[in-house]
Amino acid sequence: MPGLVSDDPETLRPMKRSVQRIAFYLGVALLIGAGFMAGRDMLSRAGWQAALPLSRTEGTASIGGPFTLVDHTGKTVTETDFRDRFMLIYFGFTYCPDACPTALTAMAEALDIIGPAANRIVPVFISVDPERDTPEQLNMYVRHFHPSLIGLTGSAEQVAAAAKTFRVYYAKVKEEGSDDDDYAMDHTSIVYLMGPDGKFRTHFSGHATSPETMAAGILGVL
Ligand code: NI
Repeated sequence: MPGLVSDDPETLRPMKRSVQRIAFYLGVALLIGAGFMAGRDMLSRAGWQAALPLSRTEGTASIGGPFTLVDHTGKTVTETDFRDRFMLIYFGFTYCPDACPTALTAMAEALDIIGPAANRIVPVFISVDPERDTPEQLNMYVRHFHPSLIGLTGSAEQVAAAAKTFRVYYAKVKEEGSDDDDYAMDHTSIVYLMGPDGKFRTHFSGHATSPETMAAGILGVL
């Protein structure tokens, strides 16, 4: 391999260039690799964080707790009003175009599949949009889904406290220049099943669980 030891600039230059090229590609490959690893790490961390509140080993005991809210008839209720019955709980808002109707429909159909045993379960929809979701608004809304569905709302503070005990995230999403009452709510989409003792039993993805799967999951812990 004469090129390797030659001092002849004509043969050295192409060698140098190819070494530079290899170094360049190696650098690019390393950058892509590093980016991939960082992305994967971020994803797994996000997955871990999302799963953390529902971890069976440490988080379950702290999901749910005392709350004071107002039901769709205007009556003030607390968690003790639901003792001795299972609660199937979903947080959302009545103006929600997709996730909430999907989740509430799945809950309603799951209860229908379960049949008479569903009498032991109270389906509950808790609004994260108390500004627009008055008891009257909830009253019109819940009847579309299931005769036993209870709608809960309250003051901004009451709703925030209830969401906190269930580790539910929500935030107003408003486009610049739109009217004050024209906005959406970003929110956690999880259906919680709480036991008659008020303690967490299991959960389902609100918008990605079929009624059959939800019914089976509920029957498994009923
Ligand atoms: Ni929603």
